[in-house]
Amino acid sequence: MDRFSTDRLIAERLRDDHLADLVALHLDPEVSRYLGGVRAPEATKAYLAVNIAHWDRHGFGLWALRTRDGAFAGRAGIRHILVDGIDEIEIAYTFKREFWGQGLASEIAIALTQIGLSQLALPSLIGLVFVGHRASRRVLEKANYVLEKSTIHHGEDVVIYRIRQ
Ligand SMILES: CC(C)(COP(=O)(O)OP(=O)(O)OC[C@H]1O[C@@H](n2cnc3c(N)ncnc32)[C@H](O)[C@@H]1OP(=O)(O)O)[C@@H](O)C(=O)NCCC(=O)NCCS
Repeated sequence: MDRFSTDRLIAERLRDDHLADLVALHLDPEVSRYLGGVRAPEATKAYLAVNIAHWDRHGFGLWALRTRDGAFAGRAGIRHILVDGIDEIEIAYTFKREFWGQGLASEIAIALTQIGLSQLALPSLIGLVFVGHRASRRVLEKANYVLEKSTIHHGEDVVIYRIRQ
């Protein structure tokens, strides 16, 4: 599970040496618009430590994504998240701006869903999205997630989509 690939992407388990790419990704205000805002380098360093610990504890987590020519394209993964006091497992995906609009998020969302439901045998997966984030909602809908509810997460209006076994 440390590595997998899709038609256009190579995913590698998150490691310490992904820090510089993640810092640059999180400093782009457009990328971070629906992720709680731009993150200072120290915040991304803490984020990386948390997500490496998630791998150690659960055996899955975030992967760094590269295109076939080796360029860093973004990050994506499967991770625990507390929603309305319930321990859920979500899929997540974030790409550098230059890679938007090519179907890459849809490609990785479908791959993550297959890994989560088939390989990890999780009973269901969720997607949590800001209400107004049309592109990400569309990614989930195309991957066959069904709108379940609206709620408030970290003070923001969000919607929860779910896919079951
Ligand atoms: C959201 C994000 C992952 C989408 O990545 P992407 O690779 O461009 O997505 P895809 O190309 O696979 O699909 C996007 C879909 O949304 C549609 N879309 C894009 N912008 C839209 C908008 N403003 N309104 C409605 N639909 C929109 C696209 O047309 C496409 O649907 P289609 O295939 O039916 O035409 C990318 O913009 C990103 O990384 N954003 C920053 C991080 C982020 O917000 N992550 C998600 C957090 S929940």
